[in-house]
Amino acid sequence: SYAEQPEPRGIAEAFIIGESFIGTDPVCLVLGDNIFYGQGLTEMLVEVASGGPGATIFGYYVNDPERYGVVEFDSEGRVLSIEEKPRAPKSNYAVVGLYFYDNDVVRVAKGIPPSARGELEITDVNTAYLRKKGLRVRLLGRGFAWLDTGTAGSLADAAMFIKAVEDRQGLKIACIEEIAFRKGFITVEELQDIAASMGNSDYGKYLSRIAHEFRERINVIPGMIGYRTDEN
Ligand code: G1P
Repeated sequence: SYAEQPEPRGIAEAFIIGESFIGTDPVCLVLGDNIFYGQGLTEMLVEVASGGPGATIFGYYVNDPERYGVVEFDSEGRVLSIEEKPRAPKSNYAVVGLYFYDNDVVRVAKGIPPSARGELEITDVNTAYLRKKGLRVRLLGRGFAWLDTGTAGSLADAAMFIKAVEDRQGLKIACIEEIAFRKGFITVEELQDIAASMGNSDYGKYLSRIAHEFRERINVIPGMIGYRTDEN
């Protein structure tokens, strides 16, 4: 389900608009124009999502940190500050658009004032967690791809990247039906029904192929992550 943000009043307003959805749970926020791709991402997200109180955010080395929230570290790697779009960035580590918080984030978001650009800044939420010593910053290594699709140029770059990997492997990135099947949320029959409902499209053919490979035990390698060997 969706809730609307009627005016562009900042990312942190999500926690106010989404207050009843969040209820008493911890919460994850991901920006719709961010793409994350890399070996081990799923396992890391599972680990972070089960991690106790406070907040976890991620830093990623980029060429143009001034476009983002930027993390400042001391010589021991402790976080000193996070600055939103600084003119003179204190490091090359940008804060990516993926954030994990405990339930206190709703109260924190309600307490921050709008910034000069009139928005409730996610960076101010993170700074509040930093001040109360509740902020963890994990670095995503250079083997990860963090792409954004917020401009026409960056959207084209992301499309080329995804196309190159998908074409090479013949496997789709973030195919929701395939993921649901491999995680056991839907059966192979359901996967085939969905494929059939998509007619003769490339996407439908891909889903059929995944179901077929599973049925015929093609490319089913025990112990291989993402390749289910049990019937469901
Ligand atoms: C927002 C955040 C910024 C973060 C970026 C990631 O920027 O304010 O801290 O680094 O997302 O994509 P904005 O989308 O407002 O430019």
